[in-house]
Amino acid sequence: MAKDADDNDAAIVERLRALEREIERHNEHYYVNDAPLISDADYDSLFRELRDLEKAHPALKSPDSPTEKVGGKRASSFQAVEHPLPMLSLSNALNAEEFLEFDKRTRERLALDEVEYTAETKLDGLAISLVYQAGRLVTAATRGDGRTGEDVTHNVLTIKEVPRELRSTDLPAVFEVRGEIFMPHKGFEALNSAQRKKGDKVFANPRNAAAGSLRQLDAEITATRPLTLYCYSVGYVEGGELPLNQWEMLRYLGDLGFPVSPETKLLRGHEAALEYFYSIQKRRESLDYEIDGVVYKVNEFAQQQALGNVARAPRWAIAFKFPPEEAQTKVAAIDVQVGRTGALTPVARLEPVVVGGVTVTNATLHNADEVARKDVRVGDTVIVRRAGDVIPEVVRVVLEARPKNTETFVMPDSVPGQERAQLIEAMKHFVSRRALDIDGLGEKIIEQLYDEGLINSVADIFTLSAGDVAALERMGEKSTANLLQAIEQSKQTTLARFLYSLGIKEVGETTAESLVDAFGSIEAIAATQFEQLIEVPDVGPVVAQSVIDFFADAESVALVAALRRNGVVWPDPVEEAASEITNQPLAGLTSVITGTLSGMTREEAKQRLQSLGAKVTGSVSKKTSFVVVGDEPGSKATKAESLGVRILFEDEFTALLDSPEGKF
Ligand code: IVH
Repeated sequence: MAKDADDNDAAIVERLRALEREIERHNEHYYVNDAPLISDADYDSLFRELRDLEKAHPALKSPDSPTEKVGGKRASSFQAVEHPLPMLSLSNALNAEEFLEFDKRTRERLALDEVEYTAETKLDGLAISLVYQAGRLVTAATRGDGRTGEDVTHNVLTIKEVPRELRSTDLPAVFEVRGEIFMPHKGFEALNSAQRKKGDKVFANPRNAAAGSLRQLDAEITATRPLTLYCYSVGYVEGGELPLNQWEMLRYLGDLGFPVSPETKLLRGHEAALEYFYSIQKRRESLDYEIDGVVYKVNEFAQQQALGNVARAPRWAIAFKFPPEEAQTKVAAIDVQVGRTGALTPVARLEPVVVGGVTVTNATLHNADEVARKDVRVGDTVIVRRAGDVIPEVVRVVLEARPKNTETFVMPDSVPGQERAQLIEAMKHFVSRRALDIDGLGEKIIEQLYDEGLINSVADIFTLSAGDVAALERMGEKSTANLLQAIEQSKQTTLARFLYSLGIKEVGETTAESLVDAFGSIEAIAATQFEQLIEVPDVGPVVAQSVIDFFADAESVALVAALRRNGVVWPDPVEEAASEITNQPLAGLTSVITGTLSGMTREEAKQRLQSLGAKVTGSVSKKTSFVVVGDEPGSKATKAESLGVRILFEDEFTALLDSPEGKF
């Protein structure tokens, strides 16, 4: 207070503090309890008195006066809660190497050959501390800065999965349980669609929605929000006996009635740890809630204690994060692509950006409606998403970053050279790996062949001569011979591949297989009726009509005939299925070998795989079925990991060679 404070000042200070307290008290009743004690007008007059007094005596105003908070509402109407034990954060591993370093450090510090870990999903929500006294929930607090959080007890009490009362005879007198509050996908979508209907704020992701819902001043609003929780640890405890390791602790929490993630596993060593990571990464999309990685914790508490903490994170745990699936970049251009069936797809050409571990330069805008809805323009900054195997897409425009003078994108009805583009797409599809699989017949060569008038349809591929091919740019003797051999080999195919290669609208690999299973021959498929078609698994009316239309078109029928005349053949599907099972248990799979194997050379490994029907290639892509990883693997292992491709370490690989049946 000012040095020259007199009696008058003292009286003013007293009145100021009294008004502050009074207003805070009413704020609490109004915003938190949803039960105001006075009328709005009376509240306003208290508020005005305080504000006027502060204006007249600025030196006496308290820095956290209620008038400092927007509209009289506290920026935080929540009481501060000091955590009895700090809520730590986790160190991150962003790739397998960093995780392996963590494991190595931990082994060295503990002088162990192998460490036992719990592996838990890293839930993407908000950390919560639940304090129970004599078995009753007394305080629920957010993490805040780790030392002090906010009291959100009223709101947490509306979440039905949070136990209010613990019935156990030997419970500690004070028992703090920690976990994550989150909003499952379904609830998130329902909430956003309700918000949209009401014209209210739409949340960007489930995490924001969970945070916004938990920090509601009105607990009744929180009650309508689909929040839930999983618990993952115990904090401050007074009295009572507790389990001695994390795995038992999780079980104990579950027995007390706390929800605990069913995805948790107890495992030993880094190989098992990585295996868990990749398997969860694969299943990530099928979980009903958002996770952003896996948390590994040294299981034994005694070992945790020996390891201790560094700064604000424990040395005994690490969060191995999935590569981010969203990133921000700029749209350099919007092109319109012609598909093999003639469909036009707008595509955003992007400034290169790494998303989900892969550099992305294009993202689909799906169709005219989507571009219009998202209003994506050249020059815009956009959020790009790439999840799992799906094609990268533009999620939304960052409107705040839109430059001046951008123009709305107008989708054309047709594009120049559309017919050529469609044919070339159809040919690219025909020769692609899962279709007739003609190695070496890439886009550039197809374009040249078409532009030179050497091929007008896919059937012409089989009448190309060595002279035709050798005349093309950059085709030497060797590559000409290789290409002709690949074309020759591709003639021996399967009916399912052949059907798929025709590029019938809506007929992907699975549908092609279903059709072959159901009808057995191309003649039968061509002659089938709509009613029979829709009986086939995963064939609906749209697919059925598309198949009917294809075979009703004289040009398609002529194409099929020309292909057969030019030598494309397939074995009877029934016989083929039988021989594949007996002789080629790994048929249709593609593998890559990296690193040094102790039991055999890479060449031997390759031959073993090929003899079982698997292809062995030199580079990892998302189409790779598995990667065999030996000692000191190269970047292929990291790439496999980032693409979520299955990894086989040497012992698993040997096991696969010993009994390959049914492993894939
Ligand atoms: S353990 C010292 N386990 O991740 C241990 N945290 O980056 C710290 N989280 O604040 C927490 N799932 O909000 C732990 N299974 C899990 C978790 C998890 C999500 C969050 C939590 C924490 C943050 C740390």
